[in-house]
Amino acid sequence: MIQLFNVGKVYQNGAPALHDISLKIPDGDFVYITGSSGAGKSTLLRLLYCAEKPSRGQILMGERNTTRLKSRNIALLRRDIGFVFQDFKLLNNRSVFENVALPLQVQGLSKQEISTQVYQMLQYVGLEYKLQRKPLELSGGEQQRVAIARAMVVNPRLLLADEPTGNLDHELAVEIMEMFTRINETGTTVLIATHDKEMLERFPHRTVVLHGGNIVSDDSPDSTDTCEETT
Ligand SMILES: Nc1ncnc2c1ncn2[C@@H]1O[C@H](COP(=O)(O)OP(=O)(O)O)[C@@H](O)[C@H]1O
Ligand SMILES: [Mg+2]
Repeated sequence: MIQLFNVGKVYQNGAPALHDISLKIPDGDFVYITGSSGAGKSTLLRLLYCAEKPSRGQILMGERNTTRLKSRNIALLRRDIGFVFQDFKLLNNRSVFENVALPLQVQGLSKQEISTQVYQMLQYVGLEYKLQRKPLELSGGEQQRVAIARAMVVNPRLLLADEPTGNLDHELAVEIMEMFTRINETGTTVLIATHDKEMLERFPHRTVVLHGGNIVSDDSPDSTDTCEETT
């Protein structure tokens, strides 16, 4: 369970990004964070990843209060979190294999273990035949799949994705969303920041709407009559 209690975030330059966010996300949920540009979606994900500290309030990830974590413990917490960044953040001078292997090297796994797990993950996202390519030799959709493989290779309990379909054409976006659905079905909590209305409608899930750093609505498909279709 992820719990936020009255969380606020003001950046160092004084820009208020989040005002007063209280939110509970049970394990295994699939949740969208949506709202217009500047609403605070990315900031919320960065707080959960401990890439930023809240200015106010408390964040609990399971039993752990992340507001007081030391950097060594932040590294430990991140072992349970996969982050798919908006701009992928792939290393362009490294191969697909090396990009996906990186989080496992950080964890100190053996070469053999790394090789097995990376290959399995690349098979999962359908890129095992491109493992020696460099990111810039791939299409946008393929790069996104590498980014997802890198986030998922550590078998995280929580997957955070920032605008994962933003730069993709419709067909690829659907493919990526189907991948997130499968990941969620294995028990991983999935939290996606997006303003892709089409995906919100096509893959209905609990949707938290932010506006100006506040939650303005929080609805699940079951609790509203707007979405009849479920998968
Ligand atoms: N690193 C930063 N430094 C200063 N202000 C920031 C930073 N990141 C975001 N902001 C500001 O915080 C607010 C929320 O931004 P963000 O979380 O990126 O929103 P969204 O992802 O919904 O577009 C915006 O006003 C933005 O300009
Ligand atoms: Mg954003």
